[in-house]
Amino acid sequence: MPSIGNISLPDFPLLLAPMEDVSDPPFRYVCKQNGADLMYSEFISSEGLIRDAIKSRQKLDFSEFERPFGIQIFGGDEEAMAMSARIVDTVQPDLVDINYGCPVKKVVCKGAGAGVLKDVDLMVRLTSAVVKSTSLPVTVKTRLGWDDNTKNIEEVAERLQDVGIKALTIHGRTRAQLYKGEADWTLIGKIKNNPRIQIPIFGNGDIDSPQKALAYKNKYGIDGIMIGRAAIGYPWIFREIKHFFQTGEILPLPSIEERVEVCRTHLRKSIEWKGDIVGIFEMRRHYTNYLKGLPHIKDYRTRLVTVKTKDEVEGILEEVKIAFAGMVPERPMASFSSDQLEECAY
Ligand SMILES: Cc1cc2nc3c(=O)[nH]c(=O)nc-3n(C[C@H](O)[C@H](O)[C@H](O)COP(=O)(O)O)c2cc1C
Repeated sequence: MPSIGNISLPDFPLLLAPMEDVSDPPFRYVCKQNGADLMYSEFISSEGLIRDAIKSRQKLDFSEFERPFGIQIFGGDEEAMAMSARIVDTVQPDLVDINYGCPVKKVVCKGAGAGVLKDVDLMVRLTSAVVKSTSLPVTVKTRLGWDDNTKNIEEVAERLQDVGIKALTIHGRTRAQLYKGEADWTLIGKIKNNPRIQIPIFGNGDIDSPQKALAYKNKYGIDGIMIGRAAIGYPWIFREIKHFFQTGEILPLPSIEERVEVCRTHLRKSIEWKGDIVGIFEMRRHYTNYLKGLPHIKDYRTRLVTVKTKDEVEGILEEVKIAFAGMVPERPMASFSSDQLEECAY
């Protein structure tokens, strides 16, 4: 069974990916209920944390129910990263994760996120600064490299292990790929099989079905899988994969009644966390995914993202439940349009 420092995890853990504007406490709640074994905050700017920016501070929120829970930080300055690791320490999550994978221009241009992949010496210094500033285990999430000609993840894995990280998650794409093409797990498997590497290696990229999860587990020998987009509006992915691993059987897909029920729980948690106005507003980005696969859903969706009160949202969800009673929509694929990505600025 893999462990990260003193955190022991179940055999072959399923991780919920950090996702800006998506993996907030309400979303994490429904993922945890459905079997996510380790979850992360959205990425938090180290500079923002130091400035005490409200948005960055809020991202530190989590509840005991979510443990084991990691807080992810990013930045390109050693001192700022060290200071923000100390701030993270004060809220005592279970681990600190460093983001060296964010491909977004405004992050990369500041020499942070995937930008750090261009300078492994800097990456080592930043990581070491974080490791020295916290008592928590430090993990890293990154990509294969900057572009096709500079896939340096093998060097990155060894050098980061040497400065004390306790686990590494690798998204099987380069920065240049953004989210295009298919994730390539070959190098991820190679790192896992490098005898020098002792820390857990988690694979990430395009896992959106129990069958794919099992195939990649067997083929690449990784210690666990991180799932991002396939969980958006579909937190059942975790329990489906677990059930398939345990029994070899595919669970029946969630009915429309179940989809609406979990969507309601998500809405309730969103309001509990952010209050009526913001909670209802922030929930809007999730309806498309919860209702994916339902025919002629556009009108309901338009109304869901227009109404302003909880009762109105609940009323429309009830209408959806009745209109599509008995229907079992397909499992959505791990996709996220570039428009959606631009909106959330990740
Ligand atoms: C909307 C969105 C926001 C994201 N935000 C983050 C983030 O804050 N930190 C991070 O390390 N990765 C972030 N990612 C990348 C995911 O964690 C993950 O690596 C990527 O989506 C590939 O995994 P998937 O194919 O399972 O989605 C984000 C991805 C999406 C789609």
